[in-house]
Amino acid sequence: MQLRSIALTNQKGGVAKTTTTVNLGACLAQIGKKVLLVDLDPQGNMSSWLGLDIHNLGKSMYNVFLEEVYFEEVLTKTCIENMTLAPSNVALAGVERILAHEKGRELILRNRLLPVAERYDYILLDCPPSLGLITVNALTFVKEVFIPVETKVLALNGLVTLTNTVQVVKEKLNRNLEVTGIIACRFDGRTNLSNEVYNQIKERFKDRVFDSIIRENVRLAECPISGKPITLYAPESPGALDYQNLAKEVVEKEKLSIL
Ligand SMILES: Nc1ncnc2c1ncn2[C@@H]1O[C@H](COP(=O)(O)OP(=O)(O)OP(=O)(O)O)[C@@H](O)[C@H]1O
Ligand SMILES: [Mg+2]
Repeated sequence: MQLRSIALTNQKGGVAKTTTTVNLGACLAQIGKKVLLVDLDPQGNMSSWLGLDIHNLGKSMYNVFLEEVYFEEVLTKTCIENMTLAPSNVALAGVERILAHEKGRELILRNRLLPVAERYDYILLDCPPSLGLITVNALTFVKEVFIPVETKVLALNGLVTLTNTVQVVKEKLNRNLEVTGIIACRFDGRTNLSNEVYNQIKERFKDRVFDSIIRENVRLAECPISGKPITLYAPESPGALDYQNLAKEVVEKEKLSIL
């Protein structure tokens, strides 16, 4: 199959970007896909979740952005076979300032990643909660954007800002870019609000919204501390089931010609 490169992004904090990157990545790897996860958040949540001591990383995405190392030098294995991680920590926060006036600064990640990209079926980039240079670098590299949305809050304005940013990057830097999936997360079917938010997103973004919904599930909140993705931490949980269904739907879309 052809490589799929996907940025998981939303400038709003705490909407389940990292939860979705790790668990979707694990589910894809467990159905036999070769997966690369790239941590692009200076908080390093994905890296510490997957067992790294982020205060002592050695080489990380920071060094990749400063072009001090090749991309493959930062890669580390994870507890899931077929799933590799490029880690980050707080050092990455300095990149925005250091590169602020660098020519071609939006293209660094693309240039560094391209030589290794073909080794993978899926490259998932966990973006920080901002639309700064790091997110722009992610959007310049990928073909697809997935937007996790917290269905507990009405946040359509934020989504419009985000899709406008995607459009600008598409016009200026990456004409292949498309928002191909909105993911309804933290869904609580007992509340009207979750249903209302889902319906509004569906009305606005139509078939770009995944049918699979990620329910609010305490096991998902617990699993970062366990150091494992949900399918290893609580394989029978609703959270595991929801992310497995999402992975199936993502794979189904491989057949679509827009990709
Ligand atoms: N379906 C869910 N059920 C219960 N808790 C969840 C669910 N999804 C995410 N969470 C919890 O919500 C919080 C925010 O999730 P997460 O860290 O994935 O968001 P994020 O968008 O990556 O945040 P940030 O913007 O800070 O990077 C975490 O504590 C996570 O465990
Ligand atoms: Mg995160």
